[in-house]
Amino acid sequence: MFDIDNEIARLIFDNSDLGIIYADISGKILLWNTWMSHRTGLSSDAVKGIHIKDVLVNIPKAFFDALDYAYKNCMPRVLSPVFHMSNLSNDVPAKQFIKILPVLNATGDIQGMLIIIEDITSNIDYEEEIEKRSRHLRILEEKARQDEKDALNWLKEQLDFNNALSNNLGEGIIVFNRAGIITSTNPATEKVLGWRNTELFGIHIKNIMSDSSKALNVFKNGEVIKSYDDFFKRKDGSYIPVSYVASPIILNEKIKSVIITFLDISEKKAIENRLKEEYKKTKKVLADLVNTLSYTAEIRDPYTAGHQRRVTRIALLIVEEMGLNKDVKDTVNIAGILHDIGKIAIPAEILSKPGKLNDYELQLIKGHSRIGYEILKDIEFEHPISKIVLEHHERLDGSGYPDGLRGDEILLEARIIGVADVVEAMASHRPYRPALGIDAALEEIEKNAGILYEKAVVNACFKIFREKGFALE
Ligand SMILES: [Fe+2]
Repeated sequence: MFDIDNEIARLIFDNSDLGIIYADISGKILLWNTWMSHRTGLSSDAVKGIHIKDVLVNIPKAFFDALDYAYKNCMPRVLSPVFHMSNLSNDVPAKQFIKILPVLNATGDIQGMLIIIEDITSNIDYEEEIEKRSRHLRILEEKARQDEKDALNWLKEQLDFNNALSNNLGEGIIVFNRAGIITSTNPATEKVLGWRNTELFGIHIKNIMSDSSKALNVFKNGEVIKSYDDFFKRKDGSYIPVSYVASPIILNEKIKSVIITFLDISEKKAIENRLKEEYKKTKKVLADLVNTLSYTAEIRDPYTAGHQRRVTRIALLIVEEMGLNKDVKDTVNIAGILHDIGKIAIPAEILSKPGKLNDYELQLIKGHSRIGYEILKDIEFEHPISKIVLEHHERLDGSGYPDGLRGDEILLEARIIGVADVVEAMASHRPYRPALGIDAALEEIEKNAGILYEKAVVNACFKIFREKGFALE
């Protein structure tokens, strides 16, 4: 019978923080220490002679295999199984590090087995925690890898998209650096400019742009150049009209490059030129028509021949003197030359009748401004020519004809032509009276300035005759 006689040995045995079981070769317990009693609630005496498997529940098969092995081979075994220490309700599954040591007698035969149990549950908790953390870390790493993969995929998609966009764009793209050296272009650039991409790399932007200073300036001021029309040089030396936008490419708050997107506008320019040409032709046709109409009216009225031309001259000088814009000038130029066109419908004998006109004849003559309006109203002039012709006999105080308009109701151009008309008519010979002279004409408009005639127009008229010495032929 195995026993611990030595008191010191007994103290160590019972105060050990290891569980110690001594069993015979059949597995029956002969002795265990206080650690085991505390864990199982069973004293050493209570378990004496009872088989291990009847005391410790849920012992894995590996334990008995190890026991067998240790017995048969007379070798120590180490294992780390999980089992319940007893059926105590507060007991929890625990992990033990177990050593099985064969105990030999003096003749070298196996006398029994010493089973040493170390509770490594807390160590295992720690290991589990480490395992948990490293698992967590692995998940994070995996996620980071996935994120990186996603980001790369996204970037690739963007690049593919950008490439597709830049390759299929009708717009040319040229990127150049601070030194003005081209670093990137797209197929549209090659097509439009007739260069191969590789030929464009590394050359200075001034070899392409007729004036590169504006685009190079983007590096200095960082401002985007919007829709700027210029000429780009093709490989064959010819120039094509383009419209371009130049924007800075900013990296880390510094302008790294400038990107130019441009469009070949030669077709647009050709259309524009053609339209300009056609517009010029139309204007010429209209001007010819105006002159022809003017002559037609004057041919029937030889006494007033040249009247419309002279009125226009005076009216244009007034416009200039008043500092009015080109629009008014253009309007007065056409309306002046046509202002009496309505006389075309008045019998020639009345127009050239010497002596005083009766009321009927006067009314007939007064009808010329409305007839003029009717003749011209369907012609699409850029300016209200027919209305000015209609209003050229209207007076500020409402005493004029045909509608008795007042002040601002009368178009400015009509007010100007009205004054020029009176001055020219009075200064010239008429079938029914000799010329009254320029002095009398100026006296008339001065007397009625602000009443019948616009004051500013009268003042301007005075200046051109009195101060600038203009004289009617
Ligand atoms: Fe008239």
